[in-house]
Amino acid sequence: MVPLPSPAAPDAGAAHDAAQDGAGAPRPVVRPATRADLPAVADILEPYVARTAVTFDEDPPTLDAWSTRFADLAARGLPFLVAELDEAVVGYAYASPWRPKAAYRYTVENSIYLAPEAQGRGVGTRLLSALLDACSLAGVRQVVAVVADDPAAAGSLPLHRKLGFEVAGVLRDVGVKHGRSVSTMLLQRTLV
Ligand SMILES: CC(C)(COP(=O)(O)OP(=O)(O)OC[C@H]1O[C@@H](n2cnc3c(N)ncnc32)[C@H](O)[C@@H]1OP(=O)(O)O)[C@@H](O)C(=O)NCCC(=O)NCCS
Repeated sequence: MVPLPSPAAPDAGAAHDAAQDGAGAPRPVVRPATRADLPAVADILEPYVARTAVTFDEDPPTLDAWSTRFADLAARGLPFLVAELDEAVVGYAYASPWRPKAAYRYTVENSIYLAPEAQGRGVGTRLLSALLDACSLAGVRQVVAVVADDPAAAGSLPLHRKLGFEVAGVLRDVGVKHGRSVSTMLLQRTLV
């Protein structure tokens, strides 16, 4: 993989102050992930691996695997953010290379996962917005989201559409998980 042209400032576009929303509920703080966040990140993903086809992982990534991913993304200048509510990490998002061949170097895939209790409160919107900002600053030109056909991913299509992603196509039955064939929808967002 050829590195992206200008490494992102790790906190670029990602800093948001804690505040209260209009209804008095805490607003998320979105900030760059640190290694210390990785156990919480692993805990957020684990139930999606075990119980859903939102992710095509069949075994939860180990902390070592998370640590390797964290270092790899940092080396590439790609953003890895977390969202906190009441000082607890409740979600994460990162951008990773879309495909390994060199000519794909300006294109990333985004991943975003929230703990169930944090969903439907605007956290995903803030987190993905910050990720897109950070991707722009990193020199990314295209962001691809891969949304599995699974009830647990019901919020993913509306979230991505809200933030300007357009449907690029459907790959039928490309995954098999828990004995079921799973299709994916590809969405694409061009960054300017
Ligand atoms: C997808 C996900 C990140 C969305 O985050 P979120 O904080 O719940 O989303 P928000 O509250 O910011 O809502 C964003 C928009 O999606 C809509 N939405 C959210 N969840 C929804 C659901 N289950 N069904 C329908 N619409 C939904 C919201 O109404 C909102 O649209 P609006 O502003 O026009 O009303 C979160 O639900 C999640 O982690 N899901 C499981 C993992 C997953 O699917 N990750 C994506 C893999 S590609």
